[in-house]
Amino acid sequence: MIYLVYVSTATTLLSDEELGDILHVSRRNNEAADITGMLLYRNGNFIQTLEGPPQAVRETYERIFRDPRHKSVIKILERPTEVRNFAGWSMGFRNADKLSGEDKKAINVFLSEPSDPKTADARGGLVYKLLLNFRDAVSG
Ligand SMILES: Cc1cc2nc3c(=O)[nH]c(=O)nc-3n(C[C@H](O)[C@H](O)[C@H](O)COP(=O)(O)O)c2cc1C
Repeated sequence: MIYLVYVSTATTLLSDEELGDILHVSRRNNEAADITGMLLYRNGNFIQTLEGPPQAVRETYERIFRDPRHKSVIKILERPTEVRNFAGWSMGFRNADKLSGEDKKAINVFLSEPSDPKTADARGGLVYKLLLNFRDAVSG
């Protein structure tokens, strides 16, 4: 298996209903393709991780990449993995506009830093930890 993480910017601010549509289709497709993961939305920006069989993850990412509902899609991490960190989540979701101060701060720091290729891997690791924190917060 592999997992990847990307960031992107919504083309327009998305309503709860539009986000719901993305999630509905994502969960249906991901379940069929044996993909799990998590999507964070904050102030017009997305952070998403996908994990599963390499070909399925890459094909799904290619489809997402071309989606006109967002732009500036940048892959920040792609790694092999033996385990799923989002098992059981065909696509977990948090609208981080509705989060507490600390979490917002962590996301803002990440999204506002310029992406320097030299530190991209470290940043990717950090943002992945952020996603794991959300997973644990949601699972309680
Ligand atoms: C931020 C964002 C995240 C998305 N995540 C997924 C995803 O995890 N899985 C997926 O199949 N489609 C995802 N999509 C939707 C795809 O871009 C595409 O619209 C969809 O896969 C097409 O599915 P269909 O051919 O079944 O209609 C996402 C779109 C956006 C904008």
